[in-house]
Amino acid sequence: MKVIVTKNYAESCKFVADHIVNLVNKDPKVKLGLATGGTAEPIYTEIVKLYNEKKVDFSQVTTVNLDEYVGAKPDNEISYRYYMNHWLFDHINIDKNNTYVANGLNNIDDEIKLFNEKLYGDKQVAFQLLGVGVSGHIGFNESGDKLTAGVHIEDLQQSTIDANARYFDSPDDVPRKAFTMGVGDIMRAKSVLLIATGDSKINVMREILTNDSVTTKVPATLLKLHADSTVVVDEDLARKCGYLK
Ligand code: GLP
Repeated sequence: MKVIVTKNYAESCKFVADHIVNLVNKDPKVKLGLATGGTAEPIYTEIVKLYNEKKVDFSQVTTVNLDEYVGAKPDNEISYRYYMNHWLFDHINIDKNNTYVANGLNNIDDEIKLFNEKLYGDKQVAFQLLGVGVSGHIGFNESGDKLTAGVHIEDLQQSTIDANARYFDSPDDVPRKAFTMGVGDIMRAKSVLLIATGDSKINVMREILTNDSVTTKVPATLLKLHADSTVVVDEDLARKCGYLK
């Protein structure tokens, strides 16, 4: 696992945006795995900026998103489909038919089948972007005694519900279940990159960056097993978690 420490979060986002744009420029038909969450928002803003500067063309790119709340209407602003359109897809020349975010309203078995087709129907996901939950989750794969390899429905933990409540009128409105890629799906991407910032991620980054353990209690530690994984973290968090002295 490669670790990149940047001066600050803005630099982290710039680094990740440049990396994604470079991947598209190298292979205009690349298949990207994308993530939602507050951490990723400035990355997408930076990509839109590069697109407006004519540095990249998304017309042949395909994307698959990590997860979506069960029950979320795609056009409702709490859905991850809405997030992706709002932060990225509405502002670049990607064909939305080539983008996939699970449909939270669809029949569960049908949607899991479709999710797998989108992941494995043609080429491999070349790059998977990841944030990390306060519980150490990647996608919505929560910590526990065991993890699930494939696409499935995950019951969200209280810490995740609390962390994501800021996007809802009340914590009671946060969906309790989500569609998510499994950890095996994430690990099958050719390369994976996790970005983290902020004090709420200190404990989880300590587990990822300061020891050699892999544990289902912190799903993001699985990235230590991936042949091409990168963690991007700013100096402040790197110091607070004990990675930098
Ligand atoms: C959600 C998403 C995760 C994301 C996490 C972190 O729970 N399902 O994929 O990594 O949020 O979010 P944030 O970046 O807002 O801390």
